[in-house]
Amino acid sequence: MHAIDVISHKRDGGELSQEEIEFFVQGYTRGDIPDYQAAAWLMAVYLNGMTDRETTDLTLAMAHSGDMLDLKDSAPFVVDKHSTGGVGDKVSLVVAPLVAACGMPVAKMTGRGLGFSGGTVDKLESIPGYRTDLSETEFEAQLRELGIVLTGQSAELAPADRKLYALRDVTATVESIPLIVSSIMSKKLAAGADAIVLDVKTGSGAFMNTIEKAEKLAEAMVRLGSRAGKQVVALISDMNQPLGWAVGNALELREAISTLHEGGPADFREHCMVVASEMLMLGGKAADSNTALTMALETMSSGAAWHKFRQMVEAQGGDVGYVDEPERLPQATLVEAVPAPRSGYLAGLNAAEIGMAVVELGGGREKKGDPIDHSVGVIVHYKVGDLVQKNTPLFTVHANDETKLAAARERVLAAHTFESGPVQRLPLFYRRVADE
Ligand code: URA
Repeated sequence: MHAIDVISHKRDGGELSQEEIEFFVQGYTRGDIPDYQAAAWLMAVYLNGMTDRETTDLTLAMAHSGDMLDLKDSAPFVVDKHSTGGVGDKVSLVVAPLVAACGMPVAKMTGRGLGFSGGTVDKLESIPGYRTDLSETEFEAQLRELGIVLTGQSAELAPADRKLYALRDVTATVESIPLIVSSIMSKKLAAGADAIVLDVKTGSGAFMNTIEKAEKLAEAMVRLGSRAGKQVVALISDMNQPLGWAVGNALELREAISTLHEGGPADFREHCMVVASEMLMLGGKAADSNTALTMALETMSSGAAWHKFRQMVEAQGGDVGYVDEPERLPQATLVEAVPAPRSGYLAGLNAAEIGMAVVELGGGREKKGDPIDHSVGVIVHYKVGDLVQKNTPLFTVHANDETKLAAARERVLAAHTFESGPVQRLPLFYRRVADE
């Protein structure tokens, strides 16, 4: 078989066989197929799409390009969750310990932030000592002992995706449903969970900027999960405004800790409860959403979710003194509350703009590998639909540099738009997609 034949087959709109897909993925991962041929192939896939069967074969080939974790010896049934990425999305920090505290083991390998979208690994690394580089053996041992693991993705997991994703990033081939589905699901399948709740974001701060595109992606991932023998549910959720109030690593971690103590913003708390309930139902801990919700609420209010979080931090080498007293977490030196320029109803709170303002403050990265400042970020004080009074604090910037603070002030101010009359609030969720 020759790479050029596989490329031309897809270029001409053909359906690739399983053998062709495996040949291409294995050859590229080994380095036998060069970047320029893989780039041409990615563009052919981008332009001509893939059938469900091809997407499944691609996903499985990518998953099998590295280690496939088998968690059966560590826990009889494991749930995972995945968010397609957003601004202020700190859901995993609350939901993982909450579900684990309900007796449902959670094992999750998670990512770093890129562009306007934050990453759980960066948030956890605000805790001095917290290890996000557990080996697969350590991952399984902690799952067995504690029923919860939140760590970075192991280098041995789906190496084909690491190479292909880097190439997609520079060849304008990221926004392709079969390529996104195979990228996300290959990692999820390799990480070994039995059931996965997918939080598919839509809106200004999401990859999929319309509900229709998010639905297509969600449906494709759910179909693929079922074909691969996993239980998968997708929730399509809003990312037109940040989730919760805090955007920025240590600020988001503090907000998550406060939520585990039954504080935190109402939208974020509710979002966590819905995702946790889905995980509990998929894992068979609850037969319906009311039972699942009651279980989650009781586990939160008993302090068991917080206790589980604290145990996880300790097990992964984090200094629990910092989560017990979150004011000790990294703090920015300059904190400025910015007043509302007018009275009115908040009509828009552009999530991507706020995410980019935090990147410019140093809290995120423009390209992979850039260092980040965990202390900086933005706290928004209002949500779309709220009535705002002129000169009351609209948002607060946490910065370590006067020039960057001034730039963030302008950018975040411009991300807020107002109307004189009442504005409809944004929903948290649009749709649930399951393989009925
Ligand atoms: N997240 C991923 O892991 N891969 C994609 O292709 C898009 C989002």
